[in-house]
Amino acid sequence: MSKKVFIETLGCAMNERDSEHMLAELNKKENYSATTDFKEADLILINTCSVREKPVSKLFSELGVFNKSKKEDSKIGVCGCTASHLGEEIIKRAPYVDFVLGARNVSKITEVLHRSKAVEVDIDYDESEFAFSDFRSSTYKAFINISIGCDKQCTYCIVPKTRGEEISIPLNLIVNEARRATSKGAKEIFLLGQNVNNYGRRFSGNHEKVNFTKLLQELSKIKTLERIRFTSPHPFHMDDEFIEEFSSNPKVCKSMHMPLQSGNTKVLKDMKRGYSKEWFLDRVKKLRSMCPDVSISTDIIVAFPGESDQEFEDTMDVMRQVEFDQVFSFKYSPRPETEAEHFTEVVAPDIASARLTRVQELHTEHIDKKNSTQIGNVYRVYFEELFNDGYVSGRSDNNIVIKIKGSDEYLGEFRDVQITSIARTVLTGEVIK
Ligand code: SAH
Ligand code: SF4
Ligand code: F3S
Repeated sequence: MSKKVFIETLGCAMNERDSEHMLAELNKKENYSATTDFKEADLILINTCSVREKPVSKLFSELGVFNKSKKEDSKIGVCGCTASHLGEEIIKRAPYVDFVLGARNVSKITEVLHRSKAVEVDIDYDESEFAFSDFRSSTYKAFINISIGCDKQCTYCIVPKTRGEEISIPLNLIVNEARRATSKGAKEIFLLGQNVNNYGRRFSGNHEKVNFTKLLQELSKIKTLERIRFTSPHPFHMDDEFIEEFSSNPKVCKSMHMPLQSGNTKVLKDMKRGYSKEWFLDRVKKLRSMCPDVSISTDIIVAFPGESDQEFEDTMDVMRQVEFDQVFSFKYSPRPETEAEHFTEVVAPDIASARLTRVQELHTEHIDKKNSTQIGNVYRVYFEELFNDGYVSGRSDNNIVIKIKGSDEYLGEFRDVQITSIARTVLTGEVIK
């Protein structure tokens, strides 16, 4: 009989994919299958995120709950980015934890399982050529890693300390993985990396010279593959070649994530982002001129140390000029082992909250304005999710979530849908073709 594993996944799409990789390895090599009930699990994994400060105590209180109510002889493993930076401290504070597995050591999952109190958190460990077993939680959309780690040194960010230096995954491994996924029914792939448009800068072995454009071109040759998405590109690497390939390649979905962080050039410099307000706006202009239907999403951090009222207004100004389709906004959160942790000009919490509210209100205005023109529009939707209430949902090429009444017959299918009603982030429609 197979054993059961329960995984709680926090954080970004990379963590989602890491959890799929762990499940795949555990299934193939140790005969585990997944469960959604931790009380029946033989193994409980928490795949953690450290990007903002959710008090570490929250991880420990959660571990306490698992420990109290779990099956008697089941094991607990802490994985992911917090595992990388806290390491053995986790076992010191919660001695019932059986192992700690860092974000860059995912391939060791079946090994640490058998070593009492194992701590594997080496951020120099290179698993860019490791062939993981196959498992995907969705048949219709396949996440595929194209690099590990991050070479940027954004002063606020802990990721380079939890995932190490950036190494690209060899082109043939990515293309083969995409072929396997599409042969099993995925018509859409989602390429993942912290800096996808820096692809090809460094491989661990010898590799022909390639870049992200070449990767997109090679993947587009797969006949059964219809849509390619990716995250996150970095504005610094959005050169003309990248924007031209993005715009002209019909398989590349016309939805771009452009993480602004701040609209003020001095703050961007303090963050070490490598671009200015003007460069960002120029890239948006170029993108929109080549690709008028593109949707643009972004990440914004408010109240970075030293950010004055006037500097914050530049972020609002960029928002007004761009009118982003989606905004993920955060208050700056000091992270251990980062440069900005030592910056002393802290912005007062009430000012930070007020700035975040202004960003969110302005974004809501932009969304309401966009939505007010949506009724009657027709989008080609790829359906990927079924709900209990008789609806299925999917996304348009430019990443709008659209629901229709229907059943699993639509999953993995494309349809033309006309929008009939609107809620803030979800549009509902009817199939016309
Ligand atoms: N590599 C991606 C970002 C990954 S982290 C990129 O550069 O786009 C996702 C987002 O979390 C970042 O874009 C940033 O907006 C936010 N973030 C990272 N560190 C943060 C911190 N210390 N405080 C608040 N937000 C942070
Ligand atoms: Fe963090 Fe910057 Fe790397 Fe993104 S690019 S993961 S924000 S260091
Ligand atoms: Fe992702 Fe969080 Fe790590 S955002 S890279 S899981 S710190």
